[in-house]
Amino acid sequence: MRILSGIQPSGALHIGNYFGMMRPAVALQAEGEALYFVADYHALTSLRDPEMLRANSRRVALDFLACGLDPERATLFRHSDVPQVTELAWILSTVAPMGLLERATSYKDKLARGMSANVGLFSYPILMAADILIYDSDVVPVGKDQKQHIEITRDLAVKMNETYGHIFKLPEPRIQPETETVPGIDGQKMSKSSPKDPASSTIFKLYSLVASKNEIAEMRERFLKGGTGYGDFKKQLFEKLWQYFAPMRQRREEILADRSYIEEVLARGAKRANEIADRVMERVRKAVGLR
Ligand code: ADP
Ligand code: TRP
Repeated sequence: MRILSGIQPSGALHIGNYFGMMRPAVALQAEGEALYFVADYHALTSLRDPEMLRANSRRVALDFLACGLDPERATLFRHSDVPQVTELAWILSTVAPMGLLERATSYKDKLARGMSANVGLFSYPILMAADILIYDSDVVPVGKDQKQHIEITRDLAVKMNETYGHIFKLPEPRIQPETETVPGIDGQKMSKSSPKDPASSTIFKLYSLVASKNEIAEMRERFLKGGTGYGDFKKQLFEKLWQYFAPMRQRREEILADRSYIEEVLARGAKRANEIADRVMERVRKAVGLR
């Protein structure tokens, strides 16, 4: 089984990335050949500061390693170290119906959040499909927001297979129901001491991700009993989060102490990713008549 996922180096990672994608991705390392990449080509659709892109890319690789990606088991690489994906994206775009992309919600969401309507942003799902198909991926661990992109990937694979004969496998998304969408702690009206409903509290939801069974039960009780303000619950959540990520912070420091470690891991990853991508591209070029 081949497992693949990517994460954009568009900014600092957050616990949504961790619980939605990184933790499941780390768990999947044991189940097959895992390939994880820093999606720097994708980040160009929103980030136009070269220094920042370089720094963020390194940081995402570092954080992924600190959170348990094991480079002895999984392949970690930079998207742009496999430029063949842009060739595959072009080929896919020649069979992609406009309507398929026009229906993509993430493009509309990004415009609504004020991003500029560039063509790259619009055709992003095609590049993402290429990312997945170029490694003959079986499983793609992602958060729920990426589900539609995987459906588009499958549609494009089917289109190619119908047009040119069987070229691509159809990948499956792997979405963890309990962390498919990790909420932010805003969106909750503050109040002091009345009983609170744990089921509708984002603080409680987040606490449940990082606390033990007993601690969760205890917080539920204090919610229902009343008398504790959100400020106290937030403090408790923060302390638990800080504690939960202590081993990752330590691992991060260790990795940073070895100046060349990240570059070595990425170079090794690029080599392996290129081997697979070259094989698949040979098949694609032949099938469509470019060779
Ligand atoms: P962001 O959404 O922060 O810009 P990315 O788009 O690079 O980050 O997402 C990387 C991965 O993290 C994707 O698989 C995405 O589904 C997942 N992810 C991002 N935010 C959340 C969230 N709040 N809850 C669950 N998963 C998330
Ligand atoms: N689109 C994903 C995101 O914004 C990142 C990504 C790019 C990806 N290519 C991918 C994820 C391929 C899974 C597989 O989060």
